[in-house]
Amino acid sequence: MAHRTPAGHFAYSFAAAMRTPADYLLPRTTGEARRLQIQSELLREATETLLGALELREPTSCIDIGCGTGDAMLMIARLAGQGARIVGLDLDTRPARARLEGEPRFELVQGDLFSATPLPSAPFDLTFSRYLLHHLPDPAAAIARMWELTREGGTLAILDIDQRATTTYPSWWPYDQLEQWIRDLYLKTGIDNHIGHKLPHLFEQAGIGKPDGTKVVGVIRTIAELSEFLPLLLDMIRGKLLEHAVASQAEIDRVDAELATAPQQTSIYCYRPAAVGVWKRKRYDVTAMGLDPLAARGR
Ligand SMILES: C[S@@+](CC[C@H](N)C(=O)[O-])C[C@H]1O[C@@H](n2cnc3c(N)ncnc32)[C@H](O)[C@@H]1O
Repeated sequence: MAHRTPAGHFAYSFAAAMRTPADYLLPRTTGEARRLQIQSELLREATETLLGALELREPTSCIDIGCGTGDAMLMIARLAGQGARIVGLDLDTRPARARLEGEPRFELVQGDLFSATPLPSAPFDLTFSRYLLHHLPDPAAAIARMWELTREGGTLAILDIDQRATTTYPSWWPYDQLEQWIRDLYLKTGIDNHIGHKLPHLFEQAGIGKPDGTKVVGVIRTIAELSEFLPLLLDMIRGKLLEHAVASQAEIDRVDAELATAPQQTSIYCYRPAAVGVWKRKRYDVTAMGLDPLAARGR
């Protein structure tokens, strides 16, 4: 939780926000790793758009927080210099380890954002995080922590979900039902998957000020194109739906059976949840450097 220091800055006690693997809602299965891989494909354009907008000058140290399968680390590597170090931090690094094996410029650290310390290559030219924040109970504290890991002159960039507008046309009830269940389950378990549009305000709440920019990217696919993804999406929450009494076994079975017809739905279009990218560059603290703030403007 945040409090204000005598100088008027926000200070966070990260101890209260610490997480362990048991705090994470989603399962650790090969199916979930595959779902993350497909989701990563769906997020490719949004990720490229965000990374492109940052106008980074050959970052040499980067971190992807909550790196999952390590997919975004590969995208970051493409825009970083050859000698750059790219760190992936996650409560569970096994999926990324399998993917990035034998690549010396990638380094994986298993641990929690709030407690993993010291991190190799910190502070970072680029601190990046994709689809992690909505899983955390105090996202502003997470932003403050990520800012702390960013070096002066470096950039913090976050991409997260805004699920509110996802829909199908013509309407396809199994998809709409599945997304409604996700909404209900997340509400019950304190996960905010509408967080995307809140990110700019959360930057301010974290005490780091207004973001430098935002990018919103949506994707439309046919249900047929999502035919592998949708059953994995249901599998991701199947057990939790029952545990939290969001759906009965009979209701889940009915949706399951309908999802099996997804490959035939070639003219039903799905507007997936929007991905919201927000970023900010950390200005140099010119007074700490003993420089005249006016002369140093524009740094
Ligand atoms: C929805 S996945 C997103 C994975 C990846 N960023 C992507 O976009 O494909 C969220 C990831 O964050 C990790 N995670 C959750 N809480 C975390 C924490 N407190 N510290 C570090 N990683 C965390 C999970 O283990 C999971 O791999």
